[in-house]
Amino acid sequence: MFDWKLLLRSSGADAVILTSPSNTLYASGYVSSFRTALLTKDGGYFLTDSRYFGEASEKVKGLKVVECSNQSLYSTLIELLQGAKRVAYDTDISLVEYLKLTTKLASFELVPLGKELSLMRSVKSDMEIEKIRKALSISEKAFDMLLGFVREGVSERECAYTLEYYMMKLGGERISFDTIMAFGENTAYPHAHPTDKRLEKGMFVTCDFGAVVDGYHSDITRTFVFGKPTDKMLDVYNTVKDAGSLAMENIKDGVSARYVDSVAREHISKKGYGEYFTHSLGHGVGIDIHEEPRLASSSDTVLVTNNVVTVEPGIYIGGEFGVRIEEMVVVKDDGNERLNVSTRELIML
Ligand code: GLY
Ligand code: MN
Ligand code: MN
Repeated sequence: MFDWKLLLRSSGADAVILTSPSNTLYASGYVSSFRTALLTKDGGYFLTDSRYFGEASEKVKGLKVVECSNQSLYSTLIELLQGAKRVAYDTDISLVEYLKLTTKLASFELVPLGKELSLMRSVKSDMEIEKIRKALSISEKAFDMLLGFVREGVSERECAYTLEYYMMKLGGERISFDTIMAFGENTAYPHAHPTDKRLEKGMFVTCDFGAVVDGYHSDITRTFVFGKPTDKMLDVYNTVKDAGSLAMENIKDGVSARYVDSVAREHISKKGYGEYFTHSLGHGVGIDIHEEPRLASSSDTVLVTNNVVTVEPGIYIGGEFGVRIEEMVVVKDDGNERLNVSTRELIML
């Protein structure tokens, strides 16, 4: 469970105010449209309004639930902040919220919270890993069901919303992000929006999708071929698959995220497709779909045990096709555990 006293100590402030949906969910186990978590030396609080107070009282963990209204939020905060001078706030807020905060709490020394919270969030507990595993398992089962639905003439949009329907039917509480579903030439767009394009023989199909369970996201990409692939399609697919496998062979506690990115990138370059791998290798996943640590050439992060990261190399050849294969892994002391159970081999329908 979230150790809010540790966060307060490491922030170097007398109090911490959290307002972003993700941070308040992490801090309390509960999320609502009106919410502020306040951590002080006298206690930790979750402030919400009358619409959520009853439910929050049952569901919030580790913090005292306090009822206030939109009008009384800042006066309640000021009361609870008695004796505090330096107050840290999470920076994941809108400009309007920032202006309100800095105006209404101008009597305090307000400082942006550093990386402490995102670092804490990047190291998952066993319970968090189980939620991610469940979210991913639902996504993979839904993908299997989609393979039974796919037929000639079906559209990208039909496949996208059918996959989403299957995920919800299997217990997903919502989708992790707008489903990416691309056929043929559209697979060369890494983040294609589904269109009315219809499936024809010989096309690649790329699906990038995920379900959320108890607030935790999954993120998976599978590329398969409808009909027979060309030699070039096979070569690109195998290059992407091998780049991912090589990267995963190198993921363990103590390895730099930049190095893991370079392993995949060098393999793709060696095969002659370097210019077509246009994004970073992966990212942390949890309460947010994209969080720390980033697996990128610009990253200074060193991976640690219980980071949960994606490994998602891709090759995108404009006007022809693209391939991305995305896995989720948990970093371990001496290696990593791949959370996916579905095959990485090319599926030919
Ligand atoms: N679906 C976005 C990503 O894979 O990062
Ligand atoms: Mn993805
Ligand atoms: Mn991803």
